[in-house]
Order: sequence, then structure tokens, then C-alpha cells
Amino acid sequence: MAYQSLYLKYRPQRFADVVGQDHVCRTLRNALGQGKVAHAYLFCGPRGTGKTTTARLLAKALCCTSSPGPTQEPCNECPSCIGIREGTLLDVVELDAASNRGIDEVRNLREIIGYQPTWARYKILIVDEVHQMTKEAFNALLKTLEEPPEHAFFILATTDPQKVPVTILSRCQRFDFRRVSMPEAVALLRRMSDAEGFSAEEAALAAIARLSDGCVRDAITTLDQVAAYTDGQVSVAAVNEVVGGAGFDLLFELSDILARGAAAEVFPFVEHLVAEGKSCVQVMEELMRHMRNVLVARLGAASETGLEADAATVKRYVDQAKGFTEGRLAGAIGRVAQALDEMRWNGQHRIVTEIALVEIAGGFLGESNAPEKPAARPERPRPAARKPAPAKAASVPAVVGATGRSPAAEPDAFDLRPPAPEPPTVEPPAADSPEEPHGSATPEWQRAVIAIVQQRARLSPALTESTASVVGDELVVSVPKSFHRDVFRGALDDPDQAAEILRIVADIYGSALRVVCEVGEPGSGGRKGDRQVARSGDARQSPVDLVLSMFDGAAILDG
Ligand SMILES: Nc1ncnc2c1ncn2[C@@H]1O[C@H](COP(=O)(O)OP(=O)(O)OP(=O)(O)O)[C@@H](O)[C@H]1O
Ligand SMILES: [Mg+2]
Ligand SMILES: [Zn+2]
Repeated sequence: MAYQSLYLKYRPQRFADVVGQDHVCRTLRNALGQGKVAHAYLFCGPRGTGKTTTARLLAKALCCTSSPGPTQEPCNECPSCIGIREGTLLDVVELDAASNRGIDEVRNLREIIGYQPTWARYKILIVDEVHQMTKEAFNALLKTLEEPPEHAFFILATTDPQKVPVTILSRCQRFDFRRVSMPEAVALLRRMSDAEGFSAEEAALAAIARLSDGCVRDAITTLDQVAAYTDGQVSVAAVNEVVGGAGFDLLFELSDILARGAAAEVFPFVEHLVAEGKSCVQVMEELMRHMRNVLVARLGAASETGLEADAATVKRYVDQAKGFTEGRLAGAIGRVAQALDEMRWNGQHRIVTEIALVEIAGGFLGESNAPEKPAARPERPRPAARKPAPAKAASVPAVVGATGRSPAAEPDAFDLRPPAPEPPTVEPPAADSPEEPHGSATPEWQRAVIAIVQQRARLSPALTESTASVVGDELVVSVPKSFHRDVFRGALDDPDQAAEILRIVADIYGSALRVVCEVGEPGSGGRKGDRQVARSGDARQSPVDLVLSMFDGAAILDG
């Protein structure tokens, strides 16, 4: 039997199974019980929180043939319930306003809705991503909403209610779906793990819940990926490996470096993180939460519920808090937040991270960041023992500093990694090399990755070491590991995200390309690939110029 992703397999089939949306489900069930269901609902809220799921549940409850009229909980066994679940009941129409098909059909909306239901009790129209409808389609919808036929119900769903015209809003009863809380998400993941026979650490499920930030679909998908990757052994280490986060132990280690003021240890530490494929953004986000917990402990307010941690971990926070003053912790949290902010427009994530950590460790917070200050421009570390990492030289964050660096223009301090074994200039030209299987992190692709990650920070780990090359009308993106591929393909399968990614790619590459993703050796295209695809000038562009051309401004690197 084909593998069915967990989030589809466990789509709630009863109102009682919908997690964290009691305010919506209770009201709907009451309305169903009292026969006071409105003709039009608008379900708003973050992605993956249950809008489409609840819309289908409402449709089932309205049409369920096990009872003489609408029921408070669908039976899931009658032909109507089964038809809705399988999408075969013609009287319940689901449109995706984001796709063309949706828009065309909304134009014929009055036709769809106007006729009596052929089989079911009612005619029900579910419109997903309704904010993406064209003006024409909105007008058609509005006309129908003004005088809905007795047999018709509308359920509109959107992640972006601001973009829905007021004329539509004012005709709908609105429900706001909320992000699901940590404990709710953990409990759901636990039920699923048990049902699937995974062996899951509680801390691993908590880590997944924390990372998904209230989006149930993301939480389930991450569980699915980790379980697939580890054959059902869901551990904290596996979660961190799959999502690119640092993990508890590393966070304690890092804040220990900061507490001891060991600024010089920051570089090997970050080197290690990057070598392990962790994302600087993700690590800094986790560090911020970690430091917050240390601060809570420092203030004597640590508890298992307050810190969402077990007793042993709470004790670790309390111990670590002894190494800091409140002031230093507050300053550190502020500095990490500032670095995260900076990373949204400055693609040199590694350097931004290192500088912030050095400033925190060295106690330089509050001093000016003027370039002549040694603190703001840490010297290149000289860990003679560290071996150069040529493969990494093609990865995206590194490439900004390594692809075409122009020795004259670039201050040495910008390349914090050990020098590449051979400078690109002395390599023989490889433009006619017949195969270049994995493309490379060209300046275009670097820019594309930065733009994509700005929109979708979650893709950062997956794309950190990606490379890309244009083959015909396709942009073939290579990532080092299969779970990176799955994460990126997941984004490409999501209409919203795919539209964003394709737009970014079209903007940067100057033509509409299909984007495909495959697993390949990281950076195997490397510098050779650059030469092959780069236009004249690009390959020699210094990282400084590159960044300046991306973000018009001269002060970025000095600021
Ligand atoms: N509140 C929830 N309780 C239980 N499972 C949920 C919940 N929300 C989402 N899920 C899970 O996530 C999957 C996707 O949910 P759904 O399609 O309803 O989200 P959505 O809010 O419509 O998202 P989008 O805005 O991306 O369309 C479901 O199949 C289900 O497995
Ligand atoms: Mg939906
Ligand atoms: Zn039924």
C-alpha cells in the first residue's frame, strides 16, 4: 500500500478530534444542534491549524445521512460522510482559489450553487485561500452570498483575512483559528507516535512542537520526517538533525561559553555548528529561548510548567543561571534578537552570529561597533588543527564569502574560515566540462536562497548547503540529504510557498523556470560550476559587492 503521510492519515474525522480550536468547534456544534447554522462562514488563521479540516467536518455534519437532519458529530460511515472524506460527493465542492481551476470554477459559481443538490441534503462550497480570488471571482461570490439559496452553505478559508474584501467579510460569520499550544501539540504527537508504534522521547516531541510554532501540520510533518529518517526512533538528536537546530546540550554548551566569557571559543563552536549543517538562524532562535529560560531561572521563577521542561532540565537552567547576572542575560537576549533581525537582510548569517556571540561573551555589549574596535571585527582564528572544509565552500552561507572573492577589495576579516586549499583563480577553466551534475551556488542562487529564506525561515536548514543549475527550463536544486529534499519538495508542493519560490526564481533568473529538487553531493559543482554558469563579472564579484548589490546601501558591512 502506498505510504500516506501522517498528517493526511490523522486528519480529524470528528469535531472532538480537532485540537486547540474548541471555541470554533463548540460554537459550530451548538449551531448544528439548534439548527442555526449560518449560510456563510469565514475560517481565518495560520496555516495548518485545521481550517480545511473543520470545513469538511461541518459539511459532513450538515449532510450526514445517519440522522434525519444535520447532526452534531458526523457518523463517518454513511455514504455521505464517506463521499465527503474521499472527495467524491459532487454536492460538496472544494475550490482552491490559489489555483486556476478554482478561479475558473468560481466564475461559474452561481451555476454550481444554483441547482438543487443532486444527492446530498445540501450543496456546500468550500473555498480555500479565498483571499487569492480574482476581483471577478469575488464579485461572483458576492452576488451569491447576497442571496444564498436555502440549500446552499459557504465555507471560506483564508490565512490572510485582511485581503478579503469587506463586502464578503460582512456577509460571513467569522471564526479565528489559533496556533495550537505546546502541550496540545505534544499530546497530539504522542497519540500519533503511539498509534504508529514509534519510540518517541517526550523531549523530542516537545522540541518538534516548539519548532512548529503552533502549526499542527508542520508538527506532524516533522514527526513524520524524523520517524522516517530514524525508522521510528524519535530522539532529540534526530529531531535536531532533521530540522537543523542546535539541540539542548549544544545550547547549554554555548551559553556556558558565553557565561565564562570565552570569546575565542565562539569560532570553533560556530564552525562545528555549520559543519554539522545547522542553520545559524535556527540556532540563534533557540539560543534566545534558552537564554530567556536561564533568565527565568536566574530570577528564581523556574518551574517545570513555566519552562516547559522536565525537572532535570530545570535544574540545569538553575545551575547555568549562576554564571550570569540578570543584566548580562537581558543584554544577551537583546543582542541575539538584534542579530536575528539583522539576518533577515544580511545574508552573512555566520558572521552576524559570530559577532553577536563574541560581543556577548566578551562583554562588549553597549560599546560602539565602530570598525576599528577589535570586538566588532574578530580576528581570523588560527586553529591550526582545524582542517579546511572545501566541500562547504560551495554551500550557500559560505559562498557569499568564498565564491568569487576579489582579494583586493575584500578585507581579510570577512572570511573567518580557513582559506580554501586553492584560490579559484588558479584553477584551470572548466567551462567545457561535459557534466556538471549538481550545479553550484551561483550568485543568482545565493540571492534566491536569501530571498526564499526571508519569506520562509523554516527552509533555511534545507537550503543551507544547496546548489542549483539551470537545465533547459528547469532549475535543478541539489541538496545534500534526502530530508532536506523532502522539506524543500514539501514547500514546492504547497501552492502558497511554491508561488513565492517561483516568483523569486523568475525575478532573479529573469525567466520562469520550473523548480525541481534532488539529492546530490553538496558543492560538487563548486567553483567549476560557477564558472560554467556565471555571466562575465559575476564570478569575480566580491562578497562585499554582492551583498551591497542585494541590499542597496553601503553601511551594511560596517554597521
Ligand atoms: N487543530 C488541529 N487538530 C488536529 N489536527 C490538525 C489540526 N490542524 C491541522 N491538523 C492536521 O494538519 C493537517 C492540515 O490541516 P488543515 O488542512 O485543516 O489546515 P488548514 O488550516 O486548512 O491549513 P492551510 O491554511 O495551509 O490550508 C490535517 O490533515 C491534520 O492532520
Ligand atoms: Mg486549508
Ligand atoms: Zn454520516
